[in-house]
Amino acid sequence: MEAYKEAIAECLAEPLGQPTETIVPMLRTPPEAAWGDFAFPCFTLAKAWRQAPQQIAAQLAQELTLAAPVAAVAAHGPYLNFTLDDDILSREVLEAIARQGERYGCGDEGRGRKAVIDYSSPNVAKELAFHHIRSTMIGHALKQILEARGYRVEGDNHLGDWGTPFGLLIAAYERFGWDDAADVEDIVQLNALYVRARNEAKADADFAATGRRWFQRLEAGDPQARKRWRWFVDVSLTEFDKVYDLLGVSFEHTLGESFFEPYMDDAIAELQARGLVTKSQGALVVDLSAYDMPPCLLKKQDGATLYSTRDLATLLYRRREWRFDTCLYVVDMGQSLHFAQLFKVLDLAGFEWAANCHHIPFGLVLQRNPESGKWEKGSTRQGNASLLKTVLEAAIRMARERMAVSNPDLADAELVARQVGVGAVIFNDLKNRRTRDVKFDQEAILNPQGETGPYMQYTQARCASVLATAPETIHVEPLYELLQQREERALVRKLAAYPDAVAEAARTWEPSVVAQHLLAIAADFNSYWTRGNKDPGLRILRPDAADLTAARAALTAAVQTVLCNGLKLLGVPTPDAM
Ligand code: ARG
Repeated sequence: MEAYKEAIAECLAEPLGQPTETIVPMLRTPPEAAWGDFAFPCFTLAKAWRQAPQQIAAQLAQELTLAAPVAAVAAHGPYLNFTLDDDILSREVLEAIARQGERYGCGDEGRGRKAVIDYSSPNVAKELAFHHIRSTMIGHALKQILEARGYRVEGDNHLGDWGTPFGLLIAAYERFGWDDAADVEDIVQLNALYVRARNEAKADADFAATGRRWFQRLEAGDPQARKRWRWFVDVSLTEFDKVYDLLGVSFEHTLGESFFEPYMDDAIAELQARGLVTKSQGALVVDLSAYDMPPCLLKKQDGATLYSTRDLATLLYRRREWRFDTCLYVVDMGQSLHFAQLFKVLDLAGFEWAANCHHIPFGLVLQRNPESGKWEKGSTRQGNASLLKTVLEAAIRMARERMAVSNPDLADAELVARQVGVGAVIFNDLKNRRTRDVKFDQEAILNPQGETGPYMQYTQARCASVLATAPETIHVEPLYELLQQREERALVRKLAAYPDAVAEAARTWEPSVVAQHLLAIAADFNSYWTRGNKDPGLRILRPDAADLTAARAALTAAVQTVLCNGLKLLGVPTPDAM
């Protein structure tokens, strides 16, 4: 739709005596779709023309010469409202969608630029908790959205696989042992050992000291420590991969904090060379008090490195080795200060590219407490957080049970149940602005009438089934001028605006822009379809009217393409039937 602003600006350029480049950014979307497609506010002309904006609007509406595809102009108070030609718009948009297919929505503002996205990034030795869905799916969606707009993107799953907790874990392993005969998965036993190690360290100072020594040995490359640690990582990765497979997510890199360990001394040395590092109570820090932030810790008294040291080394490495233009960190809001410190330190060190590193924060996932009925955040430490795989499995089970009733003969029912269950959880995660908290209620996210994944999937499948029964005539050149219904005109415009929505999502790092746009398209299509069911004249497939059928089938096919493209960007699967 954005591209049509140029045509409007051309009608205005001469009368206003301004180049189109200055007019295009002034064009707005009218609050009511019926008023027109674009509005030009006349306020800015009032001074120079010594006239009230209303008068200017009225006068211009009379005098303007319009050229296709601009069909009409009308004054509305201080605004000039422009309407595009329906026939031209329908033809151009539907033909573009048919021609571009999977590529409709793609653009090239990112061409020649590279983005690195740090996402998912769970801590090793624990299972993936439900809240990990957020970083994982927001990151995955951003990756696909940026790719669609021409960026080269590399995803890095920055595993939390280093630091004193791993010393404690080894100490716990040595003290409590490992039950090879236990009838639970390794990850479950490992998770339990992790919890036990933490509790023990709190209760027993000697144990905590032993844990710290183990971490020192680990950092020094001690083979026994390394061996244990490696095994913890392997057990965890095996488990993580199962969940990533279910979600359809993969990464170009899974390096983890440990990978950057050999680069840490150099990273600290870089900062020292720039005079940024000071000693504070035996620790090495970068003082950030001038920026109202606590110091950035680089080394503890005992010489151990920290999360911030590792992130510093990681970012320097990524820039040096991967040469990114933009680096995004999809990490919960609770870590805002950490990233503000990190970027500030690099900025102080004189790295201009630090300005292109961004924290992409997001809100919590809340679940209803069955006792109090209140929305709450689960905590892995207190053991009342759901596991991500448990949530996914429960959603799949419910989808399976429902489909067994609603569509008992469905082919590939097991696969579709997985697509619907997983799609429901993912869409629920992405449909609202990412900084908002996500409320999770299994019934609600699977409701095919709500603003849900299944609702989107149903709409797509509905398009597929309409087209599957369409006669051969849809292959003839459609007469787009037959698309005159209110819903048809509205749909064409929303389809035209879909690439703009993807571009905005890429610009603002906000997948919900795509999700909301798809919801609006689905709502329009469904009311169109429903109206056709009640009124035979409005039916999509009209055995008595081949031309109308062809035009409406072309529109339906375009809706299907856009829904599929958009849902793919979000990571929501699209079964053909459900
Ligand atoms: N592992 C960290 C956590 O679970 C998140 C890591 C995010 N990425 C980063 N480069 N700091 O809190």
